[in-house]
Amino acid sequence: MALPSALASQLESIRRQCADRSPCWGDEVRHIPVERYYDSGIRDAEVEQLFRKLPLIAAHSSELAPGQALAHDAYGVPMLLTRDADGRARAFLNVCRHRGMRLVQHAQAQDKPAISCPYHGWTYRLDGTLRHMLHAEAFGPCAQGERDLVALPCAERHGLVWVVPSPGAAIDLDDFLGGLNDELPFHEIESLQLFRTIDAEYAANWKLIVDAFLEPYHIRVLHRDTIAPFFTDGITAAERHGPHISSLVARRTAQERVDAKGPMPSTTDEVRRLATPSHVIFPNTITIFHPDYLSLITLYPTGPETLRWTHRMLVPKDKSTPDWTPHWEKTFSLIEQGVFQKEDIHCAVNIQKGLRTGANAHLTVGRMEQAVAWFHDAVASRL
Ligand code: FES
Ligand SMILES: [Fe+2]
Repeated sequence: MALPSALASQLESIRRQCADRSPCWGDEVRHIPVERYYDSGIRDAEVEQLFRKLPLIAAHSSELAPGQALAHDAYGVPMLLTRDADGRARAFLNVCRHRGMRLVQHAQAQDKPAISCPYHGWTYRLDGTLRHMLHAEAFGPCAQGERDLVALPCAERHGLVWVVPSPGAAIDLDDFLGGLNDELPFHEIESLQLFRTIDAEYAANWKLIVDAFLEPYHIRVLHRDTIAPFFTDGITAAERHGPHISSLVARRTAQERVDAKGPMPSTTDEVRRLATPSHVIFPNTITIFHPDYLSLITLYPTGPETLRWTHRMLVPKDKSTPDWTPHWEKTFSLIEQGVFQKEDIHCAVNIQKGLRTGANAHLTVGRMEQAVAWFHDAVASRL
């Protein structure tokens, strides 16, 4: 696929910054009030306005084969995802229409000819329609569809399954993703395969994690013993697509290429070797396109000062055979434990501990961190 124009202009910006040896920064210093990271009213408004109204990424397409179902609990609403024989992904509340039992238990997809309630056996097809009730004559007549599973708005695009966790809500990914619809195909997310998912809860506000992935300012210090040697200091190009943010963080190889007056890259693989593409897909998803795999991170505010972290490692299909497993195991533990847990998440948790001390009325966002302020503006404008 040809380089999307937004990505081409980010690459050109990186080329110029490397050539001039001068990072291009934002215009203003901004201040984020600390209450935004612990106020329970703000957290409740975020859940209502962002996590119940917007399309959220619930799975990678490879997690659900035709004829399978899985339980999804990461967003505070018990959801059930299915893919029926015709290949269509659907989402429902994971709640039986008889007396409300949870229907599917497993977060990992399982083959299911039908979904049978473990309590009294009401059975549903994967399209959510009620197929069978034991002793149906014990129940009066009902209107067509009245006892079907409650569907949630669901759509599949760019290799991802998106759900709005509110029955009856609308879902319009053309409108919601805007310019990201042009850029995401370049990253070939649908060609990947899930390798591993880590689900964990941490004592920090969810936005502290997003903040950490929106600025390269910290790489040199926080990540000095892990990933810093692979990156240039502070050279990045970021762009807004509505509330979403797309950025490219220059790797050392970008500086070397520009110094050697070599051509700038145009294919997906070449781009990732020179600069790391990353997104905040509003409100709660972070992508990091490492040179040969994708970290897809979704977040949920389980409370004002706690978050749920779900990190999916997605690898190329042709490198997902068993002989690749030791390589990905090692890679995943380096990035998830060594970098994310010990460095980025460790910082978020330690910032949270000091937010209520009165040391800071606000957190300060410098000109190298302007995308952090963009994200907070996008959140605040929707509450
Ligand atoms: S609660 Fe599901 S069949 Fe009774
Ligand atoms: Fe980081």
